Amino acid sequence: MKVRYLGHAAVLIIHKDKRIIIDPFITNNPQSPIKLQEVPKIDYILVTHGHADHLGDAVALAKRDGSTVIANFELCSYVSRHGVSTHPMHIGGKYVFEFGSVKLTPALHGSSIVEADLPVYAGNPCGFLIEIEGRKIYHAGDTGLTKDMELLRKENIDLAFLPIGGNFVMDLWDAVEAVKMIQPKIVVPMHYDTWPVIRSNPEKFKQEVEKLNVKCVIMKPGDELEL
Ligand code: NI
Ligand code: MN
Repeated sequence: MKVRYLGHAAVLIIHKDKRIIIDPFITNNPQSPIKLQEVPKIDYILVTHGHADHLGDAVALAKRDGSTVIANFELCSYVSRHGVSTHPMHIGGKYVFEFGSVKLTPALHGSSIVEADLPVYAGNPCGFLIEIEGRKIYHAGDTGLTKDMELLRKENIDLAFLPIGGNFVMDLWDAVEAVKMIQPKIVVPMHYDTWPVIRSNPEKFKQEVEKLNVKCVIMKPGDELEL
């Protein structure tokens, strides 16, 4: 399968004839290497939480392509008002889709959608553990460091996307602690340098992580890796 990083927390997974996008923040994403109309046809849209830099273009893409939105129950209720199809789930729950399985993992964060300057509740934020033909990808979503991550070690994760930008999420030092707990084969830093408030140092993160014998790949927006 191919895994393409689209900047911030947006990740596109292509496996056979299926395309899955996580946190499709394309429009107004200063890091996005493509425009919304350049996003290929999407089958499934996974959304970690309601914040605009994650929900992003989910509704527009789902309407365009007839994709299914996979998210927590409350977020699914919200987007289904726009007539898109959804598959609601919740933390700890796993479901086997036609492309592989998805399990929602805990994330220590908020989740709301701002409407008329007021936050609308959008359920618990989450991360995703995705398994496709025996390969496991963990996308942490927006989260602080949590001991729960220790539970992910037994999953033998192949590829982990972890936020390192600080302020709203883990900084690089907390993300190094997360790597110690999760022990993925490859880690990719995300959710940094999009704006000055989440400036970070991925090279330093890589240096620290590689002391732990974990491979770190710094993906530039648009970069793709084969898994
Ligand atoms: Ni957020
Ligand atoms: Mn965010």
